[in-house]
Amino acid sequence: MSRRAFVAGGAALATLAACTGRTPRSGAAPSATSGSTAGGSTEGGSTAGDPAGTTGASFVASPVIESRDGVLTTTLEVAGGMVPYGTGQRWAMTYAGTSPGPTLRVRPGDRLRIRLVNRLDQPTNLHTHGLRVDPGGASDNPFVMVGPGESHDYDIAIPADHPSGLFWYHPHHHGTVAAQVGAGLAGAIVVTDAVDAVPLVAGSTERVLVLGDPRIAGDAAGVTRASAMARMEGRVGDGVLVNGERQPVLTGPTGRVERLRLVNATPSRRLRLSIDGARWWLMATDAGRLDRPRQAGELTLSPGERIEVLVPLAEAGTAVVTAVTAPSGAGMGMAATAGGSQVLARIEAIGAPAAPPSIDVALAPLESLDGLTVARTRTVALAMGMGGGGMGGGRMGGGRMTPTIDGRSFDGSRTDATAALGTVEDWTITATGPMAHPFHLHVWPFQVTARSDGRAEPGWKDVVDVPAGGWVRIRIPFRAIAGRTVYHCHILDHEDMGMMGVVEVH
Ligand code: C2O
Ligand code: CU
Repeated sequence: MSRRAFVAGGAALATLAACTGRTPRSGAAPSATSGSTAGGSTEGGSTAGDPAGTTGASFVASPVIESRDGVLTTTLEVAGGMVPYGTGQRWAMTYAGTSPGPTLRVRPGDRLRIRLVNRLDQPTNLHTHGLRVDPGGASDNPFVMVGPGESHDYDIAIPADHPSGLFWYHPHHHGTVAAQVGAGLAGAIVVTDAVDAVPLVAGSTERVLVLGDPRIAGDAAGVTRASAMARMEGRVGDGVLVNGERQPVLTGPTGRVERLRLVNATPSRRLRLSIDGARWWLMATDAGRLDRPRQAGELTLSPGERIEVLVPLAEAGTAVVTAVTAPSGAGMGMAATAGGSQVLARIEAIGAPAAPPSIDVALAPLESLDGLTVARTRTVALAMGMGGGGMGGGRMGGGRMTPTIDGRSFDGSRTDATAALGTVEDWTITATGPMAHPFHLHVWPFQVTARSDGRAEPGWKDVVDVPAGGWVRIRIPFRAIAGRTVYHCHILDHEDMGMMGVVEVH
């Protein structure tokens, strides 16, 4: 473990101790012994194959870096090394020494000045997932490549009218994304605005939960290797972690509201989240807030998606947040992504019964896109195609399968869709095969207007779960920002293997 990791981890722990007056998990002190190897992929909440992972430790937040005077300046060094895990350690890829990386907190109108330093032995780069920013130049440019030993200075201007919400950053160099995100390269970006000062929101206990799914092992090879079959299905790790740890306990006083901001930063896990022993209200989806919190049951969180939920704590007790890995595939013998349930986290309320504030309050109006003139409609077909000259396909049932969009493999020099700036388009996205695919469009958020499975999906989105054999229809206002960027499946192995297209707006 690098010295940096010690320092950053220590700072995070000190912060937590200062906030809560409690001593967090003792396991933060690294022991020389662990560097465990997983005995294979384990579904569910079992700790088998995960000897170092302890459950029930206190929730630990990632270090936070805030903007000052309108600028957030920081260096994110990307490296591999040992990180604390439970009472031991595991190997991970880190941003500035931690996995997940630091949480970046900014306001609309701020600039992100990030020096990305690549200490890996493979190329990487940086994508600010969900931010409505320029996709070119030194901004959120997925075509930038930062080679081993190189660095790149990002300068990303967040518009003054940017909505508040939870966004995230991760690598986006085509071909290496799944391995790098899977190994821990992900961090949260929080954009705050005036609605964060609404009493209900301001008075809640805010927590950012970055959900990861690494393989637990003591070296790079053990963490990053994935078979051809695993890549076709989308690689899975040894169980979903919260901020790099297993099944943390979030403790809060009765009479308060927990505000949980979750990002699915797993490479492939489509999660169905539920809570028992308490209720939760959905307050925001990927790219912005709802007009008011809505009481929710099970919530689906596909790779790349975010939600914010409010959990009022009225009486002492424990609420368990459970994640079920919803099958992405059916009929392809897809064991790895089929089923499996695990405890994600526990919320422990302490104190005498006390009524939390009412959740049923108006936040800010949500723009309706109903009346807008649609300039163009398109269909976009996500498929695991046979044949084709794509890179990196796997072999299944004797045939060579390649993830494609509209029958083609990604080619960064080709523009697949061109839209006029200022127009609105309706895209129907189909998943013509036995797998569900989470579809993501950079830069321009959208709303879901219809789904083949009838599920209602309110609010602004930038990832949408396209059901196996079904479709979704989305409405995209191509506003404010011109440029050339990508749309793709957020099962990151699929993206790496070619399920990605290029869109240009001008
Ligand atoms: Cu979160 Cu193009 O990715
Ligand atoms: Cu996919």
